[in-house]
Amino acid sequence: MPVFTRKSAILKVVTPTPDEMAVSLNGVSHWYDGPSGRTQTLSHVDIEIKAGEFFTVLGPSGCGKTTLLNIVGGFIKARTGSVSVFGEPVSSPGPDRGVIFQSYALFRWLSVLKNVEFALHGRKLSKAERRDAAFQYLDLVGLKDFQHHYPYQLSGGMKQRVAIARALAADPKVLLMDEPLAALDAQMREVLQEELLGIWERTRKTILFITHSVDEAIFLSTRICVMSASPGRTKAFLSNELPQPRADYRARATVAFQENKERILELIRGDVHPSKMRGPRP
Ligand SMILES: Nc1ncnc2c1ncn2[C@@H]1O[C@H](COP(=O)(O)OP(=O)(O)OP(=O)(O)O)[C@@H](O)[C@H]1O
Ligand SMILES: [Mg+2]
Repeated sequence: MPVFTRKSAILKVVTPTPDEMAVSLNGVSHWYDGPSGRTQTLSHVDIEIKAGEFFTVLGPSGCGKTTLLNIVGGFIKARTGSVSVFGEPVSSPGPDRGVIFQSYALFRWLSVLKNVEFALHGRKLSKAERRDAAFQYLDLVGLKDFQHHYPYQLSGGMKQRVAIARALAADPKVLLMDEPLAALDAQMREVLQEELLGIWERTRKTILFITHSVDEAIFLSTRICVMSASPGRTKAFLSNELPQPRADYRARATVAFQENKERILELIRGDVHPSKMRGPRP
């Protein structure tokens, strides 16, 4: 597999070490067969994510990012290869994986607090403990004053915070996030990126985060997998050594940040041209 080889203090090729493995994809391929032919979505993908990593998959539209996340989530089966989460083979969705999608997917008939409480039903807690825990997760995402509101009374950013609190409340081993901030305006997106990074710094949950934003990938992750458009392959694994903690807008203005951005843009140039969009193969 081709890897990024620039000698840089910030981005460098990562050789996996035998630490605890959180997510492991080995030789994963996937395709859809339709009336007009086969669409190859993923091709021989090997990814290993260590416990506690904030791992970002970055790639152009249609390269198979959502398919990959759905395979790890257990919603779609890989056609070839294997997937495991903390050593357990993935065959269906499970409470070890919390999923946050681009759309908020909240229960609109439940209050903010009850939306979060819902996720705690699988844990052995009394009613009072459940309420208290839900409140603490709301506090973590800065929404404790909105506990009695309903989703329709919240902004998009607030709804996504509830979704994050709810996913965290279930105490999954891995958080799977598919472009969770893409629907937000630029300012709210940056604020939530900082909050998400703060939450990760406090919880050290393993996060698999999907994005097509180079800035978002650099700001958030410990490691970045760059995918190529044709067809759904991993192109490079970059270790992001931008100093931690970086839950602050100033990290975006550093030379190191800009250097990382340039290198990634160089890697993905040419992949984002419309002529590279894949349709079904005859
Ligand atoms: N249900 C489906 N049936 C057939 N083809 C599909 C289906 N879902 C996705 N595809 C195709 O699979 C490919 C990968 O789709 P996927 O949604 O994984 O891409 P993505 O990288 O998440 O894109 P985006 O950044 O736009 O969300 C695309 O070519 C898409 O057209
Ligand atoms: Mg997608």
